[in-house]
Amino acid sequence: MKKILLILTGALLFFSCTKKSEQELFISDLMNKMTLQEKIGQLVLFSSDWDVTGPTIKGNYEKDIREGKCGAIFNAFTADYTRKLQQVAVEKTRLGIPLIFGYDVIHGHRTIFPISLGESASWDLKAMEESARVAAIEASAEGIQWTFAPMVDIARDPRWGRVSEGAGEDTYLGCQIAKARVKGFQGDDLSKNNTILACAKHFAAYGAAQAGRDYNTVDISERVLRETYLPPFKACVDEGAATFMTSFNELDGVPSSGNKYLLKDILRDEWKFDGFVVTDYTSINEMVKHGISKDDYDAGKLAINSGVDMDMQGTIYYNYLEKMVKNNDVSEATIDNACRNILNLKYKLGLFEDPYRYCDAEREKKVVMCDEHIAKAREVAGKSIVLLKNAKSTLPVVDKTKRIAVIGALATSKEDMIGSWSAAGDGKKSVTLLEGLKKQYLQHRITYAKGCEVSGNDKSGFAKAIRTARNSDVIILTLGESKWMSGEAASRSNINLPGVQSDLLVELKKLHKPIVLVLMNGRPLAIEKEVSMSDAVLETWYLGTTAGDAIADVIFGKVNPSAKLPITFPRNLGQVPIFYNCKNTGRPFDKNNKYTSKYLDVDNTPLFPFGYGLSYSSFEYFNLKLSEYKMNEGGTIKASVSIKNTSKYDGTEIVQLYIQDLVGSVTRPLKELKAFKKVFIPKGETKHITFDISTDDLKFYRRDMTFGTEKGEFKVFIGTNSSNTLEAKFTLQ
Ligand code: NOJ
Repeated sequence: MKKILLILTGALLFFSCTKKSEQELFISDLMNKMTLQEKIGQLVLFSSDWDVTGPTIKGNYEKDIREGKCGAIFNAFTADYTRKLQQVAVEKTRLGIPLIFGYDVIHGHRTIFPISLGESASWDLKAMEESARVAAIEASAEGIQWTFAPMVDIARDPRWGRVSEGAGEDTYLGCQIAKARVKGFQGDDLSKNNTILACAKHFAAYGAAQAGRDYNTVDISERVLRETYLPPFKACVDEGAATFMTSFNELDGVPSSGNKYLLKDILRDEWKFDGFVVTDYTSINEMVKHGISKDDYDAGKLAINSGVDMDMQGTIYYNYLEKMVKNNDVSEATIDNACRNILNLKYKLGLFEDPYRYCDAEREKKVVMCDEHIAKAREVAGKSIVLLKNAKSTLPVVDKTKRIAVIGALATSKEDMIGSWSAAGDGKKSVTLLEGLKKQYLQHRITYAKGCEVSGNDKSGFAKAIRTARNSDVIILTLGESKWMSGEAASRSNINLPGVQSDLLVELKKLHKPIVLVLMNGRPLAIEKEVSMSDAVLETWYLGTTAGDAIADVIFGKVNPSAKLPITFPRNLGQVPIFYNCKNTGRPFDKNNKYTSKYLDVDNTPLFPFGYGLSYSSFEYFNLKLSEYKMNEGGTIKASVSIKNTSKYDGTEIVQLYIQDLVGSVTRPLKELKAFKKVFIPKGETKHITFDISTDDLKFYRRDMTFGTEKGEFKVFIGTNSSNTLEAKFTLQ
């Protein structure tokens, strides 16, 4: 048996070496034939005119492809169109090098899943992997081989519109989600025709933009960079992410597209990344405005020498690289290196074998928005809905005789359901809340009135909304943001509900009917007053194509909510930044002592903490035990807890484990998430959950910036959210 295994391993090794050298030989041979200009062409990425995802730059990309000056296209899709462009590259250029097609396939391609922040609330890694898989299957059938996702920026400022695109505030959760998404997009083999390259973006620390203003300066310590912002990127490298995208921001005075420390020292040398690096949209050009390069030529020189392989839409490599080589400002070896990084991935995708393998009109027809994908989207959407409040068991609505008044502009908005960055998704195909409810309830028992728009001051619709609500037994009120209010270039200086939506709630409250508030938004909102006026509150983000069905599933109890917030909801904007794994300070909050760290006008606690989310079930935690109370370096201990479902509903609970290092050579956060488990607990039953804690979970960047543990006492917390936990203590000796 051993012998057979040895032979098999040997054969496998031989096979992979031969395969690798086949690839190397092929690429070297090809590059020997390429002129400098053709090599530079491979480093150029242009947008087609099908979609606008940045400042409009008109070009003639078809001509550039034909002339071998552009090796990659984004914002082009469908089997037919990508085939047409691919034909130009393959049949009309001297060497016939195929194009690679990229696109922002962020939360679905045609079948749209919940926005990334929403999906992250599911804490369901398998579901997120499957959602990325579905996106890859659909996109790859339409000619796309490369997605600009996952976005793995940790984000702690709800003013920043792009919080909606990431996995929230926590580094540990962010790492797990990053890996799941990379795995989903890339599958287990890039040469399959239904897997696509992932792109970890935006490298790095874009989420720390000052004041939450998009594209703004980032100034954080090396420790915070390494402890909080970099790990999800490292997780992507570990999972085999094929590409990286630079961010728009500067970091310690250096914009990312010219940041050798990030792109070479960390990404290549420390992490051994071997894919290619693309800029964000025109971010090389922007180094002139940043004030680090005197002109475009200078910016291009900085970018290529800092480790940027591909220029997205900037025309800088296109215009100046050849000249730079002639002037000895860039070596040919540098160009070769970048070109090889890109060609290697084209090879791995199988594009040299068959450049049209991704443009398959038949497969496109079969897989795009197929029943299986729609069902998966609905399942994931259901898992992403967070129940924030449920006074007097207002939900689920089980009594089918009730008259329901549905109020709010978002209840009938198809377009908003798919959220920002919805790729080739068609809002017209999404299910609204009103439609979803009607499918599952007696239609004549549901009435609707808009009340008001999402923004603006017009209250003329209030009277009708009040009349409609008066004739009902329960009010389902949708409030929130329009989809364009989050995403790129969508920062807000206040995070209240826009327009007169809040006033509408105040009027409806006067009717003394139960109010179910259904929130639709892409960021944490300051909604303390609105929550207090509502009986039940559901955070539904933008749930995608099946939004209305999924919300109706929860409202009528077909699905028992289980999601938990991946980001803190503040009481008001003044508390921002507010996140759970903060430090204690030297003067922690003490209500009896004025000279402690607090506000005069608002509590220190958030409205809803990280990890918070209710269920129709209720869970009781007890009996937290550690297997040992002493741990040795390199050892592990077990932490266990019992959880009883004390309700009449079967339910799923996300059990969270946090750790605190009580004394360190540098101060440590009050709590850090280190593990979680999603467990199904039937009504009345008790489950015993065990976690392993290893010394790896205790490591951090010590005073001297080495990464490791320090001996001493640690607290372990296990609970239902970051502020409601049981605790125990152990010592690392
Ligand atoms: C700019 C955005 O920052 C980035 O996330 C996106 O992938 C590119 N535009 C391409 O659309």
